[in-house]
Amino acid sequence: MPVLRIVGERFARERPLRGHRVAACLHVTPETATFLRTLSAAGADVALCASNPQSTQDDVAVSLAADFGIPTYAVRGEDAGRRAENLDRVLRCRPTITLDDGADLVSILHDRRRDLLADVVGGTEETTTGVIRLRSLAARGQLRYPIVAVNDALTKQLFDSRHGTGQSTMDGIVRATNVLLAGMPVVVAGYGWVGKGIAMRARGMGAHVTVCEVEPVAALEASMDGFRVLPMHDAAREGQLFITATGSSGVLREEHFTSMKDNALVANAGHSDVEIDGPALARLAVKRRPVRDMVEEFELADGRRIHLLAEGRLVNLAAGEGHPATIMDMSFANQSLSVEFLVARAGHLDPTVLSVPKEIDHQVAVLKLQSLGVRIDALTAEQQRYLDSWSDGA
Ligand SMILES: NC(=O)c1ccc[n+]([C@@H]2O[C@H](COP(=O)([O-])OP(=O)(O)OC[C@H]3O[C@@H](n4cnc5c(N)ncnc54)[C@H](O)[C@@H]3O)[C@@H](O)[C@H]2O)c1
Repeated sequence: MPVLRIVGERFARERPLRGHRVAACLHVTPETATFLRTLSAAGADVALCASNPQSTQDDVAVSLAADFGIPTYAVRGEDAGRRAENLDRVLRCRPTITLDDGADLVSILHDRRRDLLADVVGGTEETTTGVIRLRSLAARGQLRYPIVAVNDALTKQLFDSRHGTGQSTMDGIVRATNVLLAGMPVVVAGYGWVGKGIAMRARGMGAHVTVCEVEPVAALEASMDGFRVLPMHDAAREGQLFITATGSSGVLREEHFTSMKDNALVANAGHSDVEIDGPALARLAVKRRPVRDMVEEFELADGRRIHLLAEGRLVNLAAGEGHPATIMDMSFANQSLSVEFLVARAGHLDPTVLSVPKEIDHQVAVLKLQSLGVRIDALTAEQQRYLDSWSDGA
């Protein structure tokens, strides 16, 4: 993670987070560990719990605590009760900064731990679903501290959401099932950055891809990008592999399960496990059994079988390893620089959802290009003058 390393080397010299306490609720992966060590090097005390129990890598959790002095409260597969306890444990550090992937810490601080709000100077949010929750809190005038929507940085969305999720989702599905994608009818629900990445990779592996959307512009984009666009009602009959990536709930539900082909596979890449209506699938099933690690078979009354991957949780993290480090390098460099930005302006920012400053996005892109050995052109003075002029070229 060369960009993060460069940022971390400067942080170690300048110690911009000295005296700050960081509570993090993120995927417990090696990339997150590298990010949190960067914040430690900047002088912060850091504690971590899991944003998703299925993505926790236990060896990483143990090493963070034992080797790097970062208390980590997470065990792979922990149940909801244990996870809630671990969120509370992280908050015992009385954070000045929160780092979320799904707005869990922010929700607790705005609900039953309002006593902690006075110390908090800012937070960051990594994913679309979290940003949606925060914007809804801000729209009601109830958000109490500024939060940078790291998710919305271009150097996050274009690469992490699109290429990172696209590749790791297909990887998780193939690891879980070992199916051949070439020639397979694949249905992708949602054509945001995540859906675009998945549809692109599935097509690249030879699948016949159909996209389902609710937004006309996104549907039009999918259509002109060369994908078939259908309502899920129709796509459900034709698909073999279904992947949800909407951030919404009940995208695949009873009316769809009852019209799917035998041996349909259903997987989710969106943040929450509510995109596929698991309880409805369980109600419809006369028999269910695990058939492979991460694959559960639901047999319907007429004998058709539907296979649910990773219990409907993020398939790229539960059945795969999530985004490659090359991708997280940019997302976590954005996170690190956004935390530095919040601390430098502590007390001077409104309690709203903020964009990642353009300079940070730009800096991350410059450093990433350098690390990849990619050189680019620069505007000549004449070109700059032409672009700045309102009369030339008229
Ligand atoms: N798996 C991962 O590692 C990973 C990475 C990044 C984001 N995410 C999550 O993936 C989800 C999507 O993220 P995004 O950035 O693409 O969001 P987005 O908001 O840009 O795109 C979502 C798209 O889904 C469409 N949609 C909403 N409801 C729908 C429905 N019922 N049927 C069909 N389409 C519907 C929307 O119109 C939108 O175009 C979010 O939950 C996000 O948090 C997951």
